[in-house]
Amino acid sequence: MKKILVTGGCGYIGSHTVVDLSDNGFNAISADDFSNSRRKITNGISKLLNKKHINYEVNLCDLEATEKIFEENPDIVGVIHFAAHIYVPESVENPIKYFRNNINNLLNVLECCKKYNVPNLIFSSSCAVYGNTKDLPVTESTSFGEAECPYARTKQMGEEIIRDFCIANPDFNAVLLRYFNPAGSHESSEIGEAPIVENTHLVPIITEVAIGHRKSMTVFGTDYNTRDGSCVRDFIHVMDLAHAHTKAIQYLLNQRNEQNCEVFNLGIGEGVTVLEAIKAFEKVTGIDLNYSLGKRRAGDVAAIYADTTASRNKLGWTPKRNIEDIVKSAWDWENNKSWLVED
Ligand code: UFG
Repeated sequence: MKKILVTGGCGYIGSHTVVDLSDNGFNAISADDFSNSRRKITNGISKLLNKKHINYEVNLCDLEATEKIFEENPDIVGVIHFAAHIYVPESVENPIKYFRNNINNLLNVLECCKKYNVPNLIFSSSCAVYGNTKDLPVTESTSFGEAECPYARTKQMGEEIIRDFCIANPDFNAVLLRYFNPAGSHESSEIGEAPIVENTHLVPIITEVAIGHRKSMTVFGTDYNTRDGSCVRDFIHVMDLAHAHTKAIQYLLNQRNEQNCEVFNLGIGEGVTVLEAIKAFEKVTGIDLNYSLGKRRAGDVAAIYADTTASRNKLGWTPKRNIEDIVKSAWDWENNKSWLVED
C-alpha cells in the first residue's frame, strides 16, 4: 500500500480524504496539530478505516518536527497539503497569523519533499484566488483577481511558491486544486465538519439553526443580479471533493500529468443560490428554517461557479452528489456530532 502524508488530515476535508484514500488502497497517515480540529475525530476516522489512524500531532511551522515525520516514514510517496488557516473574516483581522502559518508550513513541506525525495504534492487551493471575477464559469486559465482578503492571498502566494519550486525541481510534480464551496459530510456520519472556531459557512449555519444551536440566520443580500436575488455558489460535496484528491494523487503516481505543475477547479460546475440551498434543506428534512432576508455581507461576490471540464477529463473525476445530498448528509452529521464536540 502506497503511503500518503495528509497534512491537516484530522480537519474537515482532510479527514474525509484520509478515508477516501484508504477506501482506494492507500495507506494515509496525517500530520495535524488540532489547532482547528478535535483529537477525538481520530476515533471516527479509525472506525471508518477499520484500524487505528496514525496522526503526528505536529505544527508544520516547526521544521525539525516536520522533518521527523519524513525521517520516520521513508516510504511516503506523496503529500496532500491541507493544513492551513481558512477563515476569511479572521484573516482580515489577523493577517500575520495567516501569512506566518500558511506560507511557513508550505515552505517546510516543500523543503522536506526535496530533502526526503518525495516527488508528489497535492495542494489545497481555493476559488478565492480568482477574486471578484466576472468570467463565468471560471476556468483554470482565468487569471488571478485582486485577492479579497489575506486568506485568499496566502492561496495565491502558495500556488506561486509551488510553481517556482516546480521550475527549480523538474522531477517534482504538483497538482493545485481550487475548491469552490465544500459542504456535507461522510454518509456514515462518523466524521464531519467540527471546527474549534466559529463557523461562518452557509451549510453548517443552516444545520445549526435547524437543531437549535442558533436562533435564526440571515440571507446576506437578496438584491444581487441573480435568478432570485441571493448569491450563487458552486457547492461541492466533501466526499466528492475528497475523492478528487485520490484521483489527483493517482494521476501523478501514474505519470499522466503533462506538466509538472497543473491546476484543476473542483466544483460541480453549477450554481445554486443561497435561497435554493435553504429550500433544498427544507425539502429534504421537512423542517421550516428560521431565516430572515438581510443586507449584503461585505466581501461577497454575487456569483461564482466552476468550469470543471479539466478535472473531469484529465483526472477522470465525476462528482456524484447534488445540493440535496449535501444538506442531507450535513443534517445527519449535525444530529450525530455531539460525541465529538461535547465533553
Ligand atoms: N451566507 C448567508 N448567510 C450566512 C452565511 C453565508 O447568506 O449566515 C451566504 C454568503 O453571503 C454567501 C454564501 O452564503 O453568499 C456562501 O457563503 P460561505 O461563507 O459559505 O462561503 P463563501 O462563498 O464566502 O466562501 C468560499 C470558500 C472560501 C473562499 C471564498 C472566496 O469557502 O474558502 O469562497 O470567495 F475564500
